[in-house]
Amino acid sequence: MSDNSQTSTRGNWGTRVGFVLAATGSAIGLGNIWKFPYITGVYGGGAFVLVYLFCVLLIGLPLMIAELMIGRRTQKNPVGAFKALHHEKSIWQMTGWLGIASGFLILSFYSVVAGWAIAYIFKSIVGFSGTTEMIQGQFIELVTSPKSSILWHTVFMGLTIAIVIGGIKKGIERWSKILMPLLFALLLGLMIYGLAFTHGGVQALSFLFKPDFSKLTAEGILSALGHAFFTLSLGMGAMLTYGSYMKRETNLIKDAITVSFLDTLIALMAGVTIFSMVFNYNLEPAAGPGLIFQTLPVLFAQTGPWISVPFFILLSFAALTSSISLLEVVVSYFIDERKWSRMKATLILGGMIYLTGILSAVASWQVMFRGKEQGWLDVFDFVTTNYMLPIGGLLTCIFVAWVMPDKDKVEEFGSRGIMYQGLILLLRFVTPLAVFIVILHGLELLPFMEYK
Ligand code: PHE
Repeated sequence: MSDNSQTSTRGNWGTRVGFVLAATGSAIGLGNIWKFPYITGVYGGGAFVLVYLFCVLLIGLPLMIAELMIGRRTQKNPVGAFKALHHEKSIWQMTGWLGIASGFLILSFYSVVAGWAIAYIFKSIVGFSGTTEMIQGQFIELVTSPKSSILWHTVFMGLTIAIVIGGIKKGIERWSKILMPLLFALLLGLMIYGLAFTHGGVQALSFLFKPDFSKLTAEGILSALGHAFFTLSLGMGAMLTYGSYMKRETNLIKDAITVSFLDTLIALMAGVTIFSMVFNYNLEPAAGPGLIFQTLPVLFAQTGPWISVPFFILLSFAALTSSISLLEVVVSYFIDERKWSRMKATLILGGMIYLTGILSAVASWQVMFRGKEQGWLDVFDFVTTNYMLPIGGLLTCIFVAWVMPDKDKVEEFGSRGIMYQGLILLLRFVTPLAVFIVILHGLELLPFMEYK
C-alpha cells in the first residue's frame, strides 16, 4: 500500500545524516535541558532517573521504531497514515487526531518556555550579578510580566513558523546539521566544569544515580513514563511524520537507537551539570520549572557572558528544532489531507497555536487543577505529557503490533529475523501492558496497591 508517488511533492530528507540529525533535533530540546533536571529534582532523583531510563529502553525505543515504520511505509501525516494502513473510515485515525491535538497543545506552552530561553540570551549579554537571590529574582520578574513573556513567545513562534514555511530540506535539515553538534560540545564543557571545578559534582552524581526508592511516588512513575515519551518526541506522531520524509534504503533500527541514545546522553549531561550547580551553591533541587533559569545564571555570574550567551543561544536553538517538529505534525495533516498550501497551513495553525500559548504566557491566569491553583502552562504540560502522549503511544503500539499487516512491517524492518520477532513480541505484549499499568498507577487506580 505504499504510495511513493507522493514523495517528490512532499519533500524528503537530503541525506541519512540529515534525517538522524533532524530526528535528534526533534528529540533533544527543552525536554532534556529544562524539563528533565527539574522533574528529576521534584521527584527526588535517582529512583526517578532509573524508572525513566527503563521507560526509554523498554517502551520508548520499540515505539520509536514502530512510529518510524508507519511513517516511512505510508509516507503520510499521522491521520492519513493510519487510514492508509487500515481503511478510509478507520477508527484508528483517531490516534492521528490525538497526536495532532497533542502537538498543538505542547507547542503552545513549549513556545513560552523557549521564549524565556531567548530572553535569557539578552539577559546574558548584560550579565548576571548580585546575590543569588537577586539573580533568581530576575526569573520571577520575567515570568510574572505578561508583556515580556508574550513578547518572547511571539518571537519564538515567529521563528518556528518561518522555518516550517521553508519546508523539509532547506528549513529543518540545514540548521540541525550545524547547531546540534555545537550544543553537544558546549554542554560537555559545562559538565566537565561542574564535575571538576565545583564542590557539587560528587553530590550531583549520587543524587542522579543512587536510587532511593522511598522517594518514588505513583505520580513520579507516571511522570517518568510521560517524560520518556516527551523527550523522545513519541506518542503524537512527530517521529511518524519525520519517518514519512525518510528514504527507503536507510536502516531504521539503527537510526532509532542513535536518536534515543543521543537524547538520553544529553539529558543526563544536563542533569549532571545543573545539579553540580545546585549542590555547589546550596540551591533547592525541587525548585520546579525555574530550575535552569535560576541555577545556571548563578554560575554564569562568575564565568561571564562568553559562556552564558552561547549557552542560551544553543538552548533556544535546541528548542527550535523541537518546536518545528511539533508544528510540522499539525501542518502536515492540512497539507496532505486538506490540500492546503504549506504557507496557508503553517500561518493559520501556527497562529492558532500562538494564541493558545498566550494562556500559558500569562502566569497570573490560573485554574483549579488536581486540587490546586495552577497556571495553564503546568496544566497543559501535565495533561499532554502524562496522559495524551502515553495514550497516543499505547494506541500506536497496539496498532503496529496487532493491526498493521505483517508484510508492511517486515518490509520496513528489513528482515524476519530474531530481532524482528523480539520487537513484535515487545510491541504485542510488554510495551502496551507496561504503559497501561503505569497510566492506571498514575491515576492511583491499580488494585492491590495502597494509595495514600
Ligand atoms: N522532544 C522534545 C523535547 O524534549 C519535545 C517534543 C515532544 C517534540 C513531542 C516533538 C514532539 O524538548
